[in-house]
Amino acid sequence: MVLKVAGRSQVSPFIVMDIMRMANQLSMTGRDIIHLEVGQPSTPAPRAVLETAKTALDQSLLGYTDALGLMDLRERLSAHYQDYYNCAVSSDRVIITTGSSGAFLLSFLSVFEVGDKVGLVVPTYPAYRNILKAIGVEVVDIHVGHESDFQPSIEILERMDCKLDGLIIASPSNPTGSMIKKPIFQEILDWCSRKEVRVISDEIYHGITYGEKAETALSYNEDAIIINSFSKYFCMTGWRLGWMVVPDNLVRTIERLAQNLFISPPAISQLSAVSVFECLGDLDINVLRYAENRKILQEELPKIGLRKFAPTDGAFYLYVDVSDYTVDSFSLCQNILTKVGLAITPGTDFDSRFGNRYVRLSFASSTSNVSLAIKRLEKFLTK
Ligand SMILES: Cc1ncc(COP(=O)(O)O)c(C=O)c1O
Repeated sequence: MVLKVAGRSQVSPFIVMDIMRMANQLSMTGRDIIHLEVGQPSTPAPRAVLETAKTALDQSLLGYTDALGLMDLRERLSAHYQDYYNCAVSSDRVIITTGSSGAFLLSFLSVFEVGDKVGLVVPTYPAYRNILKAIGVEVVDIHVGHESDFQPSIEILERMDCKLDGLIIASPSNPTGSMIKKPIFQEILDWCSRKEVRVISDEIYHGITYGEKAETALSYNEDAIIINSFSKYFCMTGWRLGWMVVPDNLVRTIERLAQNLFISPPAISQLSAVSVFECLGDLDINVLRYAENRKILQEELPKIGLRKFAPTDGAFYLYVDVSDYTVDSFSLCQNILTKVGLAITPGTDFDSRFGNRYVRLSFASSTSNVSLAIKRLEKFLTK
């Protein structure tokens, strides 16, 4: 007899991870592969973080911490909100998590019931949908495109034919890098307050912007849950450390969930992350590299026939329309990988309806890799 597998576990794969596996398999056969598929900085955590980690290994027990995280780090983050956003946040409201991925699970469980309706701005980071689905929350797709710069607006939200319990926003977003313009951002947050829609604002790409600095939803909506991470701007992807800022009345609820689900976030990562705030200058140098990579791609891709992409206001992605070449972006990405050794991600990871016409390039790599990637793409498209 075959015992059952739970229906709730039948979520879609995270396609980028599948592409990365294929790319790694090719690398193991000796092929030279350029990785523009995964959204992770190609530079390690700053030196001061590594030094603190070495000391922690020698001198600390590295046991469990409080489920809500080390108070030193929570206080440091509270100061970060004051310094970076001019926004006063008590450290009691800052909760350290196992990556922002851990924060999604905690936040969704704490505010959504089974059957609640949560709006997702599509194209979207796929894990939101898959986590919500696994815990029985209904996802309502809010399709956006070039006409609204791939972000929602009040008009789009007003046109929805159901009452939302929650809305997930990300500005800058993954996969497009587009940002919600300042006045619209405030309007959306006010609209959600009026309509009693719980906002979850994924602010993981804050710090990586190419024009206006991103604003935090905390400034406009006191019920919003803010999610952020040390993975992107702070270059600590594999340290699995993130945080959230939540309204006072959710702290104890989330503490109970965190105690049971995770016990505590990784101790060594928490101890080390306190030092990352001494290194903002180094981290900003990475952002200059991303800006250079972005410029190269924006100038060179049109020359090889890829003229249409979403506005990359921030993050390190270019969401490129490849509909002149295919309506099957997954096969296109597989062919590009096997024929010219370039790993990129099909849009189907982010949008099951229109993503077959898009691919996502991550430009968090070195500038030389990005330039080489363009040559490989050109070779593929012009053969
Ligand atoms: C928009 C967005 N949110 C969250 C995550 C997950 O990040 P973490 O490493 O903090 O779990 C990613 C990773 O790519 C992302 O792009």
